[in-house]
Amino acid sequence: MTLLLSGADVQRALSMEDAIGLVEQGFVEFGEGRVDMPQRPVILVPEHSGFAGFMPALVGGMGALAIKTVTAFKDNPKKGLPTILGTVTLLDQETGAPLSIMDAGYLTAVRTGAASGVATKCLARDDAHVVAIFGAGVQGGTQLEAMCAVRKIDEVRVFDLDRDRAGTFASEMAGRGSIPDNIFVVDSAKDALVGADIVVTATTSPSPIFDGDDLSPGTHINNVGSHAPAVREMDTRTMVRSRIVCDSVEACLVEAGDLLIPMEEGALKESDIYGGLADVISGKLPGRESDDQITLFKSVGLAFQDAVAALHTYRTAQEMGLGVEFQF
Ligand SMILES: NC(=O)c1ccc[n+]([C@@H]2O[C@H](COP(=O)([O-])OP(=O)(O)OC[C@H]3O[C@@H](n4cnc5c(N)ncnc54)[C@H](O)[C@@H]3O)[C@@H](O)[C@H]2O)c1
Repeated sequence: MTLLLSGADVQRALSMEDAIGLVEQGFVEFGEGRVDMPQRPVILVPEHSGFAGFMPALVGGMGALAIKTVTAFKDNPKKGLPTILGTVTLLDQETGAPLSIMDAGYLTAVRTGAASGVATKCLARDDAHVVAIFGAGVQGGTQLEAMCAVRKIDEVRVFDLDRDRAGTFASEMAGRGSIPDNIFVVDSAKDALVGADIVVTATTSPSPIFDGDDLSPGTHINNVGSHAPAVREMDTRTMVRSRIVCDSVEACLVEAGDLLIPMEEGALKESDIYGGLADVISGKLPGRESDDQITLFKSVGLAFQDAVAALHTYRTAQEMGLGVEFQF
């Protein structure tokens, strides 16, 4: 039997705290070479500003074998749909049988937040307490949740081109779990940046969203929104000023315009990329080395994160009696 899980089921079965632990363990497996994860094939649907990714992974040590089909259609919010839609098919590692098919919208948002949470734990200053969120969308919400899970945050600024959306975000997120009540909607990118200790960029923008000269020394950035070679959220100045840590250097060199565009300009070299997050977690590479350093986590999203989150969600959903059994 295959367990079908809706977005609401996944939301009940997968917490941010659990996701941070799972994703961190997944990064350790990845760093040790125990993840089989081919570079994801991507199909672009330019006439509808669409991206479709097909993301398989086997995380042998954690028993997770899965493929996610994920889409990002940037005009969806105008149609009343989320930007990100998808499903994960979780397979039995011993037989290949489909254990579960689950909605991937919330799962993607949580595991993406969790990856930034792990990076922030390793790279942000211990005393970081002011967060600036760029992009008051679905990812912005779980990113904020993750920041508040790994640092004691007492002030949040939110900037979105859609001011109403930023206002709704602020009122919905304030005081939720460990998120503070102090969430301010700001009118410019600069107002969000100046004095922020942690900056999250989770927008659908195809071009740089702030001026890298406005970043305060000591900032940690989670650069999450862009994952195609021709688009970027960061300007060249930000990349040049930052110690850059990737979720996967290999995947980022295929997909991340934030890196590829400054490299084409001749402003950044491959050797300027510091390394992968797995090596920072394991201690092979030191993380932040001074309070003034600007660190940047470039995330394009990796299939092993979905696989470990999906296996945990399936097991928890079974214990909680969630979902619908289906015989193919
Ligand atoms: N790295 C990863 O693993 C990963 C995972 C999931 C999604 N994403 C990407 O994250 C991005 C956001 O996804 P989402 O689901 O939150 O989308 P969403 O549509 O819910 O939210 C995006 C928000 O960004 C805002 N925005 C656009 N341009 C802006 C700008 N210049 N300044 C400030 N705000 C701006 C929009 O108004 C919107 O509110 C997408 O591009 C998506 O593909 C990355």
